[in-house]
Amino acid sequence: MKKSLEEVIKRATVEPPKMTGFRDRIRHIVYRFSERFHERRFGIATAVDISIDQFGVTDPNCHRYNATNYRRFKQIMKWLKIRPDQDVFVDFGSGMGRVVVLAATYPFRKVIGVELTAELHEIAEENIRNARRRLRCKDIELNQMDAREYVVPPEVTVIFCWNPFGKEVLEKVFENVWKSVQESPREVVLLYTYPPWITHLDEALGKFEWLKERKRVALGRHLCLTICSFGTLRDEGGVGALLA
Ligand SMILES: C[S@@+](CC[C@H](N)C(=O)[O-])C[C@H]1O[C@@H](n2cnc3c(N)ncnc32)[C@H](O)[C@@H]1O
Repeated sequence: MKKSLEEVIKRATVEPPKMTGFRDRIRHIVYRFSERFHERRFGIATAVDISIDQFGVTDPNCHRYNATNYRRFKQIMKWLKIRPDQDVFVDFGSGMGRVVVLAATYPFRKVIGVELTAELHEIAEENIRNARRRLRCKDIELNQMDAREYVVPPEVTVIFCWNPFGKEVLEKVFENVWKSVQESPREVVLLYTYPPWITHLDEALGKFEWLKERKRVALGRHLCLTICSFGTLRDEGGVGALLA
């Protein structure tokens, strides 16, 4: 039986803040305020933390849902030089669609989401409908499927992942992206965000010689961003047209 947005949110467990002192409390209050502000601004509901086993997914390679922090997303996007109406963005593991909404506020030609669970996919559709009038990019496509099965279209140039998968799924997705790049040679940039203790990307970097690390930055204490390219970027020095 389908769950409504309200039902899913009611069942969601919001991660307890790790409040060790006054500063952390203030930080958490600011964070909650910012979440509410942005959710209202777009008319969306995405701020929950849910294990996807409640939707029948038991594969440990498929990670839980929680959304990318609004402020962090803005910081991440500063690393990109978007070529208006040319670049196409894909969020692998798009969940309730927060990143799809946010990416569509930039001048991408198209924004695509790929989400495994029907429940989160439907909520994402509702969120996109609600946010649409505030979005710059109107060409939005949401796919409900296993990311492993997603055939990467030749126009895709930016891949976003917020720790969506374990090693097995991640490597299959990267192989699919690389296949697409080989069939239609172009620059493709990966924006991979993850908690510092997750090592799947490093394992993939050690395994695939065509996956090249370009930049690694800490975003606060609990989040890392690693930017990679698939194959060699065209410009000298390893910084292609897509990276700021
Ligand atoms: C950490 S959430 C990221 C949500 C969203 N990208 C964001 O940043 O706000 C990871 C998402 O990946 C989805 N996911 C996990 N395994 C998947 C798979 N094999 N194929 C597609 N999506 C998957 C989960 O259902 C969840 O919604």
